[in-house]
Amino acid sequence: MRIHHLFLSFLFSSFSVAAPGPKPPNLTVKTTSGKYTGFINSTAPDVRQWLGIPYAQPPLGSLRFMPPKKAPNYGVADAKAYKPICYQNSGPKTSLYWKLLPEYLNRDSESEDCLYLNIWAPKNPVEKKVPVIIWVSGGGYKEGGGHALYQVPDQWIQRMQTHIVVTFNFRLHIFGFPGSPAASINAGLLDLRLAVEWLKDNIKNFGGDPNRMILYGQSSGNDMILRYSYAHPKNPIVKGFIGTSGGTPVINPTSSPNFHNAAQVVGCANLTATEELICMQNVDPSLLQNAVDVINPDPNRGLFRPIADNITTFTNLTERLEKGLVAKLPYIGGFMYNEGAVFLPFDPDATTAPTPVPVPGLEGLWCAIKQEVDKRVAHGLPAYRYIYSGNFSNVTPRYWLGGMHSSDIPLIFGTHNQVRGNSTQFQFETSFEMQEFWVSFAQNPDKPPRNSFNQIWPKYSLSNPRVMEFGNLTIGNPSHVAPVSVADWWSGPCLS
Ligand SMILES: *[C@@H]1O[C@H](CO)[C@@H](O)[C@H](O)[C@H]1NC(C)=O
Ligand SMILES: *[C@@H]1O[C@H](CO)[C@@H](O)[C@H](O)[C@H]1NC(C)=O
Ligand SMILES: *[C@@H]1O[C@H](CO)[C@@H](O)[C@H](O)[C@H]1NC(C)=O
Ligand SMILES: *[C@@H]1O[C@H](CO)[C@@H](O)[C@H](O)[C@H]1NC(C)=O
Ligand SMILES: *[C@@H]1O[C@H](CO)[C@@H](O)[C@H](O)[C@H]1NC(C)=O
Ligand SMILES: *[C@@H]1O[C@H](CO)[C@@H](O)[C@H](O)[C@H]1NC(C)=O
Ligand SMILES: *[C@@H]1O[C@H](CO)[C@@H](O)[C@H](O)[C@H]1NC(C)=O
Ligand SMILES: *[C@@H]1O[C@H](CO)[C@@H](O)[C@H](O)[C@H]1NC(C)=O
Repeated sequence: MRIHHLFLSFLFSSFSVAAPGPKPPNLTVKTTSGKYTGFINSTAPDVRQWLGIPYAQPPLGSLRFMPPKKAPNYGVADAKAYKPICYQNSGPKTSLYWKLLPEYLNRDSESEDCLYLNIWAPKNPVEKKVPVIIWVSGGGYKEGGGHALYQVPDQWIQRMQTHIVVTFNFRLHIFGFPGSPAASINAGLLDLRLAVEWLKDNIKNFGGDPNRMILYGQSSGNDMILRYSYAHPKNPIVKGFIGTSGGTPVINPTSSPNFHNAAQVVGCANLTATEELICMQNVDPSLLQNAVDVINPDPNRGLFRPIADNITTFTNLTERLEKGLVAKLPYIGGFMYNEGAVFLPFDPDATTAPTPVPVPGLEGLWCAIKQEVDKRVAHGLPAYRYIYSGNFSNVTPRYWLGGMHSSDIPLIFGTHNQVRGNSTQFQFETSFEMQEFWVSFAQNPDKPPRNSFNQIWPKYSLSNPRVMEFGNLTIGNPSHVAPVSVADWWSGPCLS
């Protein structure tokens, strides 16, 4: 009896000790596609995570190649593990990323049932509803998705508690950009739109502010968010754009032979366009994957890209801008000092730089950003520019890589120290500066972004063009960040 009593009082007192502490967060969240229970990973104890929530119906059967359909309410489920990424078209996997730096890539298992998103939210948010950064990964429309090791934002949110980051999968290559003559639809761009609409409806239940969401894309992801801005002049939902190391072509094709050519390979020959489309919807996806390789003369480059369907994208985007048919929102555009280095043939055993020596900037990417920013500013849209020239050996472990294509991503996501050893103090500082500017922009894209040193990122102007420079230790002020004259970074003409 006495023991029993002691035991009870022990129990009771440990309860009363626990009771005044902070309540554990409710990780079960209601959404339009069901009630999902997330989790907290001990490696980021102040971050709530939900992985693999469906934002669309699986795009299978007659939904293949077609606009995504809203997900129905699937009831109660866990959201504690990544879902498969969309089918990739990775070619021979001989690129520098595959051979040396796979952390930059999405490498989960692949499926046609892939339209899922992932949400990371602060456990102790600095405000009631935090802004939302929606990440659109690159990969040349043939690779990419919502889960690359360097693109997991948990440490960024753990440190700042200021924002939510969302990543998502969208359809790629023939599945996302089929260009069928019977249905000229950029399904992958519509996937992006549906994900944004899903977030508008649901993000408040995760502590996000649906009225303060921005799109952030890199490489072809930048291309996607720019196209988005031209496709949704009236109702963009988001409030700003950050885009790096990519751009939209000056002129987009209105048709492509690739879908038809692939149809010949998989037994869908000699059909009308509509019959061909239906036939192609019934082919096993692995045969389609193979057909795309068969018809592609250059496996390092994808064949299937956006076609001007006059809904999701248009032949001449400059014309859209001139007619005011663009979401009039602020844009941050940036590029890497040494963009070109990753696109040269890569020999993992070589100890010296490939020849020709990497061209800093890879003109096309520098130009695309410069032209986009210039023309936006000329039409009265606010824009900002940056250059990243970091050269950090754990994220770019060859002396000739330096600030290569994609290399600012691990600094912004705060993942730079996760492989190949710890980072330098300067690298951490550069990472923090960039994170702070990105969040500041998400908090209010209508105000020039600032960092914790209260430095203000000047608006880009054609009369006094300045770009923010990140990653250059020779910049003398304490943050090692400063606006520099654009002439230092771009003087040559753009070729296209
Ligand atoms: C957590 O939130 C969900 C969705 O709003 C609700 O159904 C559930 O009852 C909550 N659980 C607790 C323990 O409060
Ligand atoms: C938790 O975080 C660690 C380190 O980032 C990672 O390796 C692990 O996969 C994460 N767990 C889950 C369930 O995501
Ligand atoms: C398509 O038509 C050509 C010419 O009539 C014929 O040679 C070929 O066998 C046909 N292919 C299929 C798959 O029916
Ligand atoms: C889109 O518009 C262009 C020119 O404005 C036209 O050539 C093209 O056929 C149109 N495409 C579709 C799918 O309507
Ligand atoms: C695209 O449109 C712009 C603005 O109308 C025009 O100046 C330009 O010549 C067009 N480009 C092409 C290649 O037609
Ligand atoms: C990167 O830094 C290393 C070591 O300091 C240097 O040898 C190399 O030239 C730099 N690379 C670039 C591309 O700037
Ligand atoms: C990593 O490096 C930073 C700065 O260079 C240092 O402050 C930190 O303690 C290091 N972390 C580990 C685990 O060594
Ligand atoms: C770093 O800044 C200095 C001083 O402005 C400049 O001379 C140098 O070219 C920059 N380095 C890189 C790699 O951009």
